[in-house]
Amino acid sequence: MIVSARGTAPGKIILFGEHAVVHGIPAIAVPLSAVQVTVDAKPASPGAGLTIHAPDVGETVRATVNAYDNPLYDALLYPAQIVLRALERPTPDVTLTVRSTIPIASGLGSGAALATAIMRALSAALRCDVPPERLNSLVYEVEKRHHGTPSGIDNTVIVYEEPVYFVRDEPLETFCIGQPFMLLVVDSGVPSPTKVTVGDVGRLLAQDRFMVEALFKGVGDIVKQARSAIEAGTVEVLGTLMQANHAILQQLTVSSPLLDRLCAAAEEAGAAGAKLSGGGRGGNIIALVTPEQAAAVAEALTAAGAARVIQTTVQAPSGDEW
Ligand code: PMV
Repeated sequence: MIVSARGTAPGKIILFGEHAVVHGIPAIAVPLSAVQVTVDAKPASPGAGLTIHAPDVGETVRATVNAYDNPLYDALLYPAQIVLRALERPTPDVTLTVRSTIPIASGLGSGAALATAIMRALSAALRCDVPPERLNSLVYEVEKRHHGTPSGIDNTVIVYEEPVYFVRDEPLETFCIGQPFMLLVVDSGVPSPTKVTVGDVGRLLAQDRFMVEALFKGVGDIVKQARSAIEAGTVEVLGTLMQANHAILQQLTVSSPLLDRLCAAAEEAGAAGAKLSGGGRGGNIIALVTPEQAAAVAEALTAAGAARVIQTTVQAPSGDEW
């Protein structure tokens, strides 16, 4: 029997270590609950099969064999197919309605969040329990289909909804946030597929292994220092570490003039540091601010061309509001 159910999932931000994480270097990521995917499942009439409505993008898709040829339809249907296969269930008569406030291809984990929320809604509608570890590996299957060689950081931070110190192919490691800190998450408005930048960094590594491995090692050192600072609550040093990580990402060719301009605008307006976050060349930058600086820095970023600025506080999952 199918019951009405809801599945949700947050976005995510990578604080330090993107790209190098694909090649075995640690990275730090936190969930971003200011943006969310919500999926409502409702029983449909017998024989109706699986239908997914995505009103935000004006699409409705039915689960048919040909539907997978369309990339958007595939993004909606493939997570459902994966979870049904894992639960050994035939296609149920159910309608899913998907709503998302996470911009697509912008480094905030929209694909992993969509897959997580669809799987949560569908498994709850079927009254099946999918524990986080299993859900994480099912969402990773979807990530592989869309990203080629994902590190697994997006699915991990989104499924567990906790700050993670992530090392590819190693067990989940969470860590403490000694003192909350504030970030602006700044959308450049330019979509950029992660698959392309990850492929370019891989090519750069093949061309000049010595140079790129040295850059990755630099990222690893930054990530370890950042973790210690976050745990100790000495968050003021994070700004300098963000600048250093951004400089390496520039050398890895994944920044862009717009992202560099946004980082500079944030720092000129008082942010302690800024860097691109996620795949790069477009998508988002993050900037470290105090609550007093936030409004002025956000204004400067909008003047410099930012499409959207979200203010968020990074804190322990059950931490006090700042
Ligand atoms: O999906 P995005 O754009 O947030 O980027 C993910 C981070 C990368 O390190 C660039 C890729 C990966 O699989 O870890």
